[in-house]
Amino acid sequence: MRPHRIEPLIEAEALAARVRDLAAQISADYQGRDLLIVGVLKGAFVFCADLLRNLHGVHTQVDFIACSSYGVATETSGVVRILKDLNAPVTDREVLLVEDIVDTGLTLQYLQAHLRQQNPRSLRTAVLLDKPYRRQVPVQVDYRGFEIPDLFVVGYGIDWAEHYRHLPYIGAVRFLD
Ligand code: IMP
Repeated sequence: MRPHRIEPLIEAEALAARVRDLAAQISADYQGRDLLIVGVLKGAFVFCADLLRNLHGVHTQVDFIACSSYGVATETSGVVRILKDLNAPVTDREVLLVEDIVDTGLTLQYLQAHLRQQNPRSLRTAVLLDKPYRRQVPVQVDYRGFEIPDLFVVGYGIDWAEHYRHLPYIGAVRFLD
């Protein structure tokens, strides 16, 4: 790995408070309804788990989809591959797609199109971190945690080449070379 250090960007307490806010909005919007939460592996697994545990009055089911666009680099390749698809089609379901980061928008655009092909009754998207400066395609985001600068971030489930997912906060990778 290139020489680097991790600088805290969003503390654990701030993450927890924002996730509670998002969950309150989602709970209000889907009160009493059935909702299929689709978490995007691997990066969104912590966000997805915390969001889920803060929902109230919503009948939830959970599924996961895994995709890759980065490999081991810090730049997106722009080519999205599905590594693990959903266990069942989302036809006629109310679906909430839960993603860690929207950057260029290519991954979300691909995943939203993939789910829409299956004719869900509704499809909304929750994203923890939004990096709007590098957007290449417009994408719909219904619930957004934080807007962040154009930094490479890790922690709270998000990795750099599979490292740092365990950090309880979001940190920015500062390269020292
Ligand atoms: P996009 O396709 O460029 O919008 O990138 C979205 C995906 O790239 C996310 O699902 C992340 O997995 C990954 N990604 C984007 N920015 C970062 C980052 O700062 N750290 C780690 N992964 C990132």
